[in-house]
Amino acid sequence: MHKDVKEILFTDNQIIERCKELGAQISKDYKSKDKLVFIGLLKGSIPFLAELSKYIDLEVEFDYMDVSSYEGTESTGNVLVKKDLEGDIKGKNLLLIEDILDTGKTLYTVKAMLLEKGAASVTIVTMLNKQERREYPINAEYIGFEIPNVFVIGYGLDYDEKYRNLPYVGILKEEVYM
Ligand code: XMP
Ligand code: MG
Repeated sequence: MHKDVKEILFTDNQIIERCKELGAQISKDYKSKDKLVFIGLLKGSIPFLAELSKYIDLEVEFDYMDVSSYEGTESTGNVLVKKDLEGDIKGKNLLLIEDILDTGKTLYTVKAMLLEKGAASVTIVTMLNKQERREYPINAEYIGFEIPNVFVIGYGLDYDEKYRNLPYVGILKEEVYM
């Protein structure tokens, strides 16, 4: 275990098993829908998106967006689009993939933006959900795991751009950010 990790919450294997379940569920629910696009929110969603997509038995396209509203360990400021989608999403069924749903500000704003641009539907898939932190009226249709109000790193999640490569989700030691 990395020296800055206090506790491992979900191992590589647990995440893989959960991705298999979510992938099967999504494949079943979306069987009769076409024009499916997975939208990955950079950078945190990438490991989860890569794992989950192996178990999606559907014809699907991929596109990526980079937005930010987060600095340090508190959600602050406005949502800024740093990299926009490449494809036209008009009339498409979007699955918005995120690492973690926290206050909800990012996904609430991005979902509204995508619907405004003409998406037929926007469904949220998040690896982690911190329900008790929610401030915006938004929920995910598909959730990997529920977590309490702790700061987590690994499997895409960072602190100061570090730890994204850890093969598990763990709690960051307080002394690292205090
Ligand atoms: P909101 O508040 O918009 O935040 O739902 C979502 C974004 O905040 C970041 N975030 C975290 N990043 N460990 C992290 O590494 C955490 O515990 C954490 N909580 C929120 C994350 O970038 C997410 O996209
Ligand atoms: Mg993020």
